[in-house]
Amino acid sequence: MKVLLLNGPNLNLLGKREPEIYGSQTLADIENDLSIYAKSTDCQLSTLQSNAEHELIDAIHAGMGEVDGVIINPGAFTHTSVALRDAFLGTKLPFIEVHLSNVHAREEFRHKSFLSDVAVGIIVGCGTLGYKLALDALRFKLKT
Ligand code: DQA
Repeated sequence: MKVLLLNGPNLNLLGKREPEIYGSQTLADIENDLSIYAKSTDCQLSTLQSNAEHELIDAIHAGMGEVDGVIINPGAFTHTSVALRDAFLGTKLPFIEVHLSNVHAREEFRHKSFLSDVAVGIIVGCGTLGYKLALDALRFKLKT
C-alpha cells in the first residue's frame, strides 16, 4: 500500500505551537514515527507539509495513480478550503482527515469542515496517535 501524508499550514510549528493543545512532539517526530510504523506494516509512506494551499492541491493531483490513499491534517484549511475538497473529489483519492485536537470542543468556526463528508474516515482529538489510527483505518477501508 502506498500512502501520502499531508500536513497543512502551521503544522511545521508543532512542538512550539500551543503545546497545551497540540502537544510537544514536532512534525519530524510524527513523520518519523509514522514512517517506522508504515514500514513495519508493509506500507510505503511519502510526506509533505506545506503552508500553501496550492502545494497541497498539487500533491493530491500528483498522487493520482501513484498512491492508494492520503492521510491529511489540513490545519486551518479544513474550515475554509473548497479547493482542497474539489481536489479530492476530482482525483477520487480516498483520504482520512486527521486533527490532533478535538475541533468540536473548540471555537465554533472549527466545527465546520469542507472535507469531512467526502473523507472515508475522520480521526479527531486523539493527538499524535491519530496518524497511526489513520493508517490502520485507510488500510481497513481499502480492503473493504
Ligand atoms: C488542527 C485543528 C485546526 O482547527 C487548526 O487550524 C490546526 C490544527 C488539529 O490538528 O487539531 O491547524 O487541524
